[in-house]
Amino acid sequence: MAPSLNSTLEANGNSSNDGKSPDVNWEEMGFSLTPTDYMYVMKCSIGDNFSQGSLIPFGNIELSPCSGILNYGQGLFEGLKAYRKEDGRILLFRPEQNALRMKAGAERLCMPSPSIEQFVDAVKQAVLANERWVPPFGKGSMYVRPLLMGSGASLGLGPAPEYTFLVYVSPVGSYHKGQRSLNLVVEEKQHRASPGGTGGIKTVANYSPVLDALTRAKAQGFSEVLFLDATTGKYIDEGSACNIFSVKGNSISTPPTHGTILPGITRKSIIEIARKLGYQVEERPVALDELLDADEVFCTGTAVVVTSIGSVTHQGRRVEYKTQADTVCQKLRETLTGIQMGGLEDTMGWMVEVN
Ligand SMILES: Cc1ncc(COP(=O)(O)O)c(C=O)c1O
Repeated sequence: MAPSLNSTLEANGNSSNDGKSPDVNWEEMGFSLTPTDYMYVMKCSIGDNFSQGSLIPFGNIELSPCSGILNYGQGLFEGLKAYRKEDGRILLFRPEQNALRMKAGAERLCMPSPSIEQFVDAVKQAVLANERWVPPFGKGSMYVRPLLMGSGASLGLGPAPEYTFLVYVSPVGSYHKGQRSLNLVVEEKQHRASPGGTGGIKTVANYSPVLDALTRAKAQGFSEVLFLDATTGKYIDEGSACNIFSVKGNSISTPPTHGTILPGITRKSIIEIARKLGYQVEERPVALDELLDADEVFCTGTAVVVTSIGSVTHQGRRVEYKTQADTVCQKLRETLTGIQMGGLEDTMGWMVEVN
């Protein structure tokens, strides 16, 4: 069978890695792609296991027009970050959690997946090969994007005959650059996910369906969309790319991840940190009415980290929340980023050294 992804890649302009510091203005960086030197690629046929991958120059890939990913959306992605510590070492945040989530998604989409060890090793190799692109301490992070896709050709609907696991990286700054808190609008017409669907996995197919709501929201000056549950429309689900938390007094609530909500790794980590700091944390359905009556609302995700929600607008009514100084969100964010950047002791054993 002819391979559907050609490993002879069109190298981009950055692939002549001379080891020099890249010409990047770290201060100005937002969340957009800066092409780097290398990416990691590993393939396997259906029914086999992934075995050996390699680093190749970052660049375009070649796919059969009939590939599973292009025709049937048979694909998953992950997102995690590598951070440079003050002493120059590079650390990853809980990469094995992303590997586990990819594995769960692959089972749902009938794809083979790399083992946890293969995933973490590939991520480390991709980061190390592009080490010069890891921002200096305190100036951002390196975003790591693993992909798993049906790259083999299959005209009839069915699992693709061949799979590709690929890891590329890009230095990034803040996702919502210049916004210290976000303004959300409740989406009433469209849903992100429904029971029995794929909301709980990170399939590529979950993301284009939110673009219409997100584009409408942004055109009206909002930063993000808040989706409601597809069954009753009374409870909050999540944002287009982040989990949502509600704070009332000492109590923090977030919807449970029973299928329609992505089990965020930041979400899971923030729940653990909050419990350690003495907050009462509940994973339970959160009614929109309850959210509109909260003291504070915040969102979590690899890209957004932990960010305050300044307002939620529902049917034209804008409800504002406490933000910035002395908020629960700020305490949790400081603790999480302290662990990630190395300023606080990693008592949970979350950080994994790359170099
Ligand atoms: C739909 C959705 N929810 C939540 C999250 C947050 O997940 P994590 O904290 O693992 O980045 C993401 C993020 O990447 C997402 O796409």
